[in-house]
Amino acid sequence: MTHSRIPRHIAIIMDGNGRWAKKRFLPRYAGHKAGVETVRKILKLCAEQKIKVLTLFAFSSENWRRPKKEVSLLMELFMTALQREVKRLDKNNVRLRIIGVREAFTEKLQELIHEAEKRTEHNSGLTLNIAANYGGHWDIVEAAKRLAEKVEQGTLKSQEINESLFAEQLCLANLPEPDLFIRTGGEKRISNFLLWQLAYTEMYLTETLWPDFDKAAFMEALNSFSARQRRFGRTSEQVEEENA
Ligand code: IPE
Ligand code: IPE
Ligand code: MG
Repeated sequence: MTHSRIPRHIAIIMDGNGRWAKKRFLPRYAGHKAGVETVRKILKLCAEQKIKVLTLFAFSSENWRRPKKEVSLLMELFMTALQREVKRLDKNNVRLRIIGVREAFTEKLQELIHEAEKRTEHNSGLTLNIAANYGGHWDIVEAAKRLAEKVEQGTLKSQEINESLFAEQLCLANLPEPDLFIRTGGEKRISNFLLWQLAYTEMYLTETLWPDFDKAAFMEALNSFSARQRRFGRTSEQVEEENA
């Protein structure tokens, strides 16, 4: 699709919780809690705007390097949010998926994840992907491993491997690639988020801290997206001709 006013898939790095809390002389944890509220609001907006897929970066494979206390508070928050929200998500026809290495989580959290996915798997509204203990490098390496296994078993020839076959092995297989990437909090990097999938995604980087990312900020991102011309390598004349 070369021209679309509304993105089908939005991927977000929800950054700036810590700084938001610091500005208010609050512990970092208060920022993460406020961040969960923003997730709730953005979900509602996505449903209103008929967005099909929303992928949120909640915890990166590098975030284990944070102080132990913060990591365990984040895990707790993830767990309570899952417990509290699943019913509502299900009621709103949201299909929830968690992407990342879940074996690193406690048994209890893994169980909650499994139940939440199972409960919502047949829902046909918004698909919500939460990236937790996710890394873009990991995703690509796992895909390569799966293909290598098939070659080893003799069910695939290495010459048959192509981009679409490779993409089918990735976490977000069978979903449209992100049209819009949003990073709040002012940093200008991908931080090992969706590396393969962001190849042609429109970038929207904002200084706004995640807990402050409200309806107006979200609509601004959508407006910015709708004003862009996606060329996918072609010239602007070619794209205009096609859309005429
Ligand atoms: C993002 O906010 C949330 C997670 C990484 C879990 P940060 O905690 O990174 O907030 P800043 O970047 O320190 O402000
Ligand atoms: C990226 O944010 C990960 C999440 C938002 C979950 P970070 O705040 O961890 O990113 P870096 O380390 O500053 O790049
Ligand atoms: Mg950060």
